[in-house]
Amino acid sequence: MTLEEIAKKMCAKGKGILAADESTGTIAKRFKSINVENTEKNRLFFRQTLFNSQAMKNYIGGVILFDETIKQKSTLGPTIPELISDNDVIPGIKVDKGAKPLAGSLDETVTEGLDGLRERLKEYYGLGARFTKWRAVYKIANKFPSSQSIKSNAHALARYAALVQEAKMVPIVEPEVLMDGNHDIDMCYKVTTNVLNECYNELTIQKVDLKGTVLKPNMIIPGTESKKKSNSEEIAKKTLECLKKNVPSDVPGIAFLSGGQTEIEASENLNEINKINDTNFLITFSYGRGLQASALKAFGKDQKDHSSIQKAFDHRAKMNSLSSKGEWSKNLEEVAA
Ligand code: 13P
Repeated sequence: MTLEEIAKKMCAKGKGILAADESTGTIAKRFKSINVENTEKNRLFFRQTLFNSQAMKNYIGGVILFDETIKQKSTLGPTIPELISDNDVIPGIKVDKGAKPLAGSLDETVTEGLDGLRERLKEYYGLGARFTKWRAVYKIANKFPSSQSIKSNAHALARYAALVQEAKMVPIVEPEVLMDGNHDIDMCYKVTTNVLNECYNELTIQKVDLKGTVLKPNMIIPGTESKKKSNSEEIAKKTLECLKKNVPSDVPGIAFLSGGQTEIEASENLNEINKINDTNFLITFSYGRGLQASALKAFGKDQKDHSSIQKAFDHRAKMNSLSSKGEWSKNLEEVAA
């Protein structure tokens, strides 16, 4: 498959991406919230239960894995990447080494992980990965994000993307403007515009073929502490406008992060965006919390109750699949509850 074909398969209509690439530290927080011990065995059990679920075949185009998981063998027989590709889903891998303090800027980060990346990519390809993820993080506050943060992160994202294409995989480019803060929706629009522009500027300098990439952006949304709330129509309108103005049309797929929205908000907003999508972009989800929150709760109740965990996951995946086609409605949530 060409890189463009892989990108289009990851984001095919009615499908999206499961972000199951929480680092050991992040999954520790998730497990703590449900009183489950953060052991390798528990991480494997939870994840393989999702990867073996009915929803995988129908609603998921790709799964982003963490380094530990891509090297694990499931207790069902196959390795984790085999379990995923057996369902005709593409395995992917998070390759960044996390957001680290940015020297010279108080309280901002730059994402690291370029050292040794070429070698790691070869290993991941050998393990079955056909796409990758790198997440840059930007916070909105007083003078943030600084141009230093915007430029440093865009440069790293573009160097990463070039190396990934050299290794014959599709880079997910994830510049995440955080929801934290009391800014309004228009500030999120403005900052996201600057961030996206700098990213595509750098991607062009690094000669990245945009047809073989997927963008994973935040939606245009008010800060969590903002006094001015926005409904899903406004979020959808401003998100689509921002993408149309700032994302080159060569990019085949846009898969949003959920970023702290509730499961229902993430489905509702994606649905509204697709209802008015008049572009050629395949617009879908690449959710972590937005796909796994209910399944995690079920795992917390009874770790051995596979059918309840899978039922919760299948439902969320189905709802987001409908949203990727603009066919979701709140009634469908109530009927299932
Ligand atoms: P959330 O959907 O929970 O924001 O996670 C997506 C992700 O992969 C962040 O990098």
